[in-house]
Amino acid sequence: MVCLGNICRSPLAEGIMKVKLPESFFVDSAGTISMHEGKHPDSRSIKIATNHGIDISKQRSRPIVKSDFETFDKIYCMDINVYQEVISRTNNEKYRQKVSLFLEAAGNHKNTEVPDPYWGDLNDFEEVFQLLEEGCNTIAQQLTHNV
Ligand code: 4NP
Repeated sequence: MVCLGNICRSPLAEGIMKVKLPESFFVDSAGTISMHEGKHPDSRSIKIATNHGIDISKQRSRPIVKSDFETFDKIYCMDINVYQEVISRTNNEKYRQKVSLFLEAAGNHKNTEVPDPYWGDLNDFEEVFQLLEEGCNTIAQQLTHNV
């Protein structure tokens, strides 16, 4: 799960997806910038997750690295800028095929991007949670039926 800072959206996506998938799946998140590296998720993401019974407080922000293209089978991007940035990091076609827009992969026909809630309020974080939760339901089904 990849967003810009790895403190708002992708930590939520990671936390939600971990609940939806069996433990045999390795779910992680990263950002395209390293500005927040080592930090815990934004307190608003932690709060919204907690409201829904999910603990993301122990996560730490990290930037995406080259080896992620090999480590992971799927790389889901929260918005188009993030997608373009991630794609630009590799010329390898096999790796590029692993990368998709989260909401597109989830078959969401209304929204293409998970909006950045960083400058918003708790309601924006709740909306992000809802988008992610619905998307994770669909993606978790896809992934578990492929096992
Ligand atoms: P995220 O949100 O990409 O969902 O983690 C943001 C976090 C930090 C910044 C922007 C968006 N920032 O500008 O520092």
